[in-house]
Amino acid sequence: MNGSNWIGRIIFGGFILFVLLPLLPGVFRVFKLAGGRALLPDNPRANAAPFPILLHIVASVVYGVLCLFQFSTRFRKKHLNLHRLFGPIAAIAGLAAAASGLWMTHFYSFPTNLQGAPLYWFRLLIGTAMFGFVIIAIRAIIGRDVMTHRAYLIRAFAIGTGASTQAFFGIFWIIATGEEALGTFRDAVMIGAWLFNLAVAECIIRRGQKPGRKTSHRSRSVVA
Ligand code: HEM
Repeated sequence: MNGSNWIGRIIFGGFILFVLLPLLPGVFRVFKLAGGRALLPDNPRANAAPFPILLHIVASVVYGVLCLFQFSTRFRKKHLNLHRLFGPIAAIAGLAAAASGLWMTHFYSFPTNLQGAPLYWFRLLIGTAMFGFVIIAIRAIIGRDVMTHRAYLIRAFAIGTGASTQAFFGIFWIIATGEEALGTFRDAVMIGAWLFNLAVAECIIRRGQKPGRKTSHRSRSVVA
């Protein structure tokens, strides 16, 4: 195996860890709500109304894990049937994650240091966008428009992995200052993480659309 293969594997391994980062606390939360030991600080909103957060976490785990397979060119090439099977499951999970996120944003009673007005409105916007992007991607693939399908799934995934970037920024902030980010600053960090991911997504989409790039040809031949 040559050096660039190793680098590619390390980058991909890092990416998997990045996607799985926010899923682990989610699994801990499910464990706690199922009557297990508390491995995380208490979430009174989850205790008061566990169903939406349970649905959100299960849907996010399914969505995050399946997307890792769906975006892998090697996996699509080798297991096209599985790609086609996982696609609708990932789409339903993505829709459920976005819809339950929207529900909690509106109906959970947050203290303002955890969700101020900017984060409330932005979550409504970004959750709706994620839901809409998955629908557009489904419609595109039904119409065999692979490039639109790819672009909107990348955008939806960027919103989904906003949870990873937020966790990453949050952990970094705690290590740097010894305190959790709260209030308006927390709102700004959460919103900034989503905007950052969307900017990266746009770069990836544009790279894939450049004429003659291998990725666009591969995705055409494999998915269509
Ligand atoms: C699909 C990717 C997503 C993942 C992996 C994810 C992850 C999580 C996890 C693990 C929790 C549980 C936190 C806890 O136990 O305290 C959570 C809660 C929550 N998520 Fe998401 N999320 C995702 C998408 C979204 C989206 C798009 C929105 C915006 C509408 C959203 C809004 C929320 C809200 C409002 C809560 C409740 C937070 C609380 O009660 O403190 N999530 N998310």
